[in-house]
Amino acid sequence: MSGSYFQRDRGRHPQALTPSYKTSILRSPRQALLSLPTSHSEETGPVFGHDILGPLDNDLIRNFAKDGAEAIGQRIVVYGRVLDEAGRPVRGALLEFWQANAGGRYRHKRESYLAALDPNFGGCGRAITDDEGRYSFRTVKPGAYPWPNGVNDWRPAHIHFSVFGHAFAQRLITQMYFEGDPMIWQCPIVRTIPDPAAVEQLVAALDRQATIPMDSLAYKFDIVLRGRRSTMFENRMEGN
Ligand SMILES: [Fe+2]
Repeated sequence: MSGSYFQRDRGRHPQALTPSYKTSILRSPRQALLSLPTSHSEETGPVFGHDILGPLDNDLIRNFAKDGAEAIGQRIVVYGRVLDEAGRPVRGALLEFWQANAGGRYRHKRESYLAALDPNFGGCGRAITDDEGRYSFRTVKPGAYPWPNGVNDWRPAHIHFSVFGHAFAQRLITQMYFEGDPMIWQCPIVRTIPDPAAVEQLVAALDRQATIPMDSLAYKFDIVLRGRRSTMFENRMEGN
């Protein structure tokens, strides 16, 4: 690897202790952080290959549907690129994504929101970036959902992303929001991010050029792995 190292700007990232996001009170560290070096095997293996993906893995409208049925909701395409600190494409990254259904409900045994399940929507999928760092998947736009924090707090519509490099130790996790959603700026989790520009970077742009006529709207979401313009990753507040 050659080129300059761009130090991240810590002012863009949330403090670990943010009392308006209640569970951060118990989860935030009480003592100074330790640095744990990763082992050689954690850094180098396993390596993901394109052959691990099934043909419907990046199609959430159909990947859990039965007998030719499709998921209910507003059909969208989400696409973008995974980039390094210098804007170069990152190829071969495994992206996993998961989301609530169009009503705002997750398919999970501990989910308690009263919105209906969609029998044809599982809410998760995956893709691997191509030589240009590109990925795309098809899904339905998730609904907003309430969560137990304050008296009446809601998560804006969002999709969770996990990005693997070439090993399990290289995992980054973030969330994508949707352009124009007024719920974004009311969310106590979003509001733990001090820099509005860092929040804007998590908001996917509606891309009219990429819409599929009479089929789907399209949203563009690029992910920057590190450096001054790094995407905010919730599992690496200390840096990545
Ligand atoms: Fe969520």
